[in-house]
Amino acid sequence: FNGGLTVKAFSEEQEALVVKSWNAMKKNASELGLKFFLRVFEIAPTAKKLFSFLKDDDGVPLEKNPKLKAHALTVFAMTCESAVNLRKAGKVTVKDSNFKDLGELHFKYGVVDEHFEVVRFALLETIKEAVPEMWSSEMKEAWKEAYDQLVAAIKQQMKPSQ
Ligand code: HEM
Repeated sequence: FNGGLTVKAFSEEQEALVVKSWNAMKKNASELGLKFFLRVFEIAPTAKKLFSFLKDDDGVPLEKNPKLKAHALTVFAMTCESAVNLRKAGKVTVKDSNFKDLGELHFKYGVVDEHFEVVRFALLETIKEAVPEMWSSEMKEAWKEAYDQLVAAIKQQMKPSQ
C-alpha cells in the first residue's frame, strides 16, 4: 500500500482493463462472488469469525449464504468504481456509503491488514480464472492499484466511531 497519501496516476488504459473485465464477469456475478469468498476462507479460515451473520446462521451452508455473496460482489463493484474514479478524479470516491462509515464498520468487526491482503489475493485469482483470455500483467496491476487505493481510503478511517 502507498498509505493513500500520494495518488499514482491511473491511466485510461488501466480503467479500460478493469471495466472491460468487470463487464465480462458481471453475467456470472453470482457464481463469481461464491468462488471469491470461498477462496478467501480457504486461505484464511479464521476470517469466517468476522462475519456476524455466519455466527448467527450456523445451519446455512457457507455457499448458500446470500449476505456473504453480496459482500463479495460489493468488493468487486466498488473496486471497479474505484478504477473509474481514479482515472476521472484522481481519487477514489464511494457512492452509497462514505469512507468514515466503511472504516468504522470494518474496524468494529475486527478486520486487519492481513484480511485486506488475503481478499486482494483472492480477488485477483478469481478474475484470472474468470477471464483467462483477457488476463495480463497489466490487467492484474490495474485491478491491484484500484483495490489498493480503495483500501487505503477505508483504512484511513479505521478507528472507533465517535
Ligand atoms: C461489511 C465493503 C473488505 C469484512 C462491509 C460493507 C461494505 C463493505 C459496503 C457493509 C455492507 C455489506 O455487508 O455488504 C468492503 C470493501 C472492501 C472490504 C469495499 C475492500 C475493498 C473487507 C475485508 C474483510 C471484510 C478484507 C475481512 C475479511 C467485512 C465484515 C463486514 C463487512 C465482517 C460486516 C458484515 C456483517 O454485517 O457481519 N464491507 N469490504 N471486508 N465487511 Fe467489508
